[in-house]
Amino acid sequence: MGLFQSVALRTVERKLKEISGEKVPIIAGHKLLYTCNLRCHMCPFWRRPDPLLLSVDEERKMLDTLADFSVSYMGFEGGEPFLRRDLPEILRLSHDRFFTSIVTNGWMLKDHFREVKDYLDFMFVSIDGIGKVHDRLRGMDGSFEKAREGIVAASAEIPVALSSTITSENADQVDQITAFATEMNISVSFQVAYDYSTAEKMSPPSEKLKSAIYRLLELKKSGAPLMESREYFQSVIDSWYNGISWKCKPWLTINIDPQGRVVLPCYVLNEYTGSGRIWEMDLPKVWNSVDWKIYESCNKCALSCYLEPSLFSWSNFTMVKERIIDGILSYLRA
Ligand SMILES: C[S@@+](CC[C@H](N)C(=O)[O-])C[C@H]1O[C@@H](n2cnc3c(N)ncnc32)[C@H](O)[C@@H]1O
Ligand code: SF4
Ligand code: SF4
Repeated sequence: MGLFQSVALRTVERKLKEISGEKVPIIAGHKLLYTCNLRCHMCPFWRRPDPLLLSVDEERKMLDTLADFSVSYMGFEGGEPFLRRDLPEILRLSHDRFFTSIVTNGWMLKDHFREVKDYLDFMFVSIDGIGKVHDRLRGMDGSFEKAREGIVAASAEIPVALSSTITSENADQVDQITAFATEMNISVSFQVAYDYSTAEKMSPPSEKLKSAIYRLLELKKSGAPLMESREYFQSVIDSWYNGISWKCKPWLTINIDPQGRVVLPCYVLNEYTGSGRIWEMDLPKVWNSVDWKIYESCNKCALSCYLEPSLFSWSNFTMVKERIIDGILSYLRA
């Protein structure tokens, strides 16, 4: 069975499980490692130790468990995923089962994207500003230029988007970053920096952030290539500035840490059920024993991998078109 057919079948399975009252994720995220070659000020991950990583066979067991749980989309990140020499093999296994994407800082992209391009449906490259602004935030001179070269090479062959994290240092750069994406003929995804307790607190001051989000909503309405929906920006404004919360559904996105453990309820709050690895547990039982209701009004982060699925509604035609119909059409065209 081809990828498209098996994902379609899992979508039907998931719908049936949902009808019987089960909570089932649609997206899975996996941090392949915490180690990184950059030192971004706002990032907690490179600061964490990396005990034993999963072997390729363990990665396969993890992917099989997620496919059995009806997951359709798999996203890899880290740390820096390109630091793993077995990355092509892991992505191949994933692409046999899921629509597969990766997030990278782009440092190694130009030299290595050919090894992985056949196993990716989508790639995100992080860009947090133009030139020196990006280099300063990423703690490494030359990181903007390396990422730019990687984007030029990779976007000629696979769909690429920028991933941009809004901080106190770059909140005034959303126009420049969007213009850079437009110039490169790719799209851009923006997210707001979350103040992790183990990283530098860099989320922008309230009024500065408000201007940036309103500007992004304007850019979206004017047709700029932003990946987030209008509802995404509007929900952030409503919740953080008007006291109207969105209903967070973190159960739609499952996250697996570099040791194969399920991170609960989301990778921001970062709790665990124990040290068991995902293929060693009764995953549907673990997932459905979480009291998800208490997180509905959390609204602490605006990470799009949680907020966008939480906002999805079949009764909103623009959303269905942008996220389902356009996705299917671009897949069929590729
Ligand atoms: C953790 S990185 C891992 C992948 C790769 N190393 C990279 O930088 O793209 C994934 C994304 O998380 C973003 N990120 C880092 N610190 C963050 C924070 N405090 N809040 C929100 N996003 C953050 C990064 O900018 C990046 O786009
Ligand atoms: S490149 Fe990615 S993982 Fe590495 S420090 Fe920066 S945000 Fe964190
Ligand atoms: S809003 Fe809260 S529960 Fe939802 S993903 Fe963010 S931190 Fe997790």
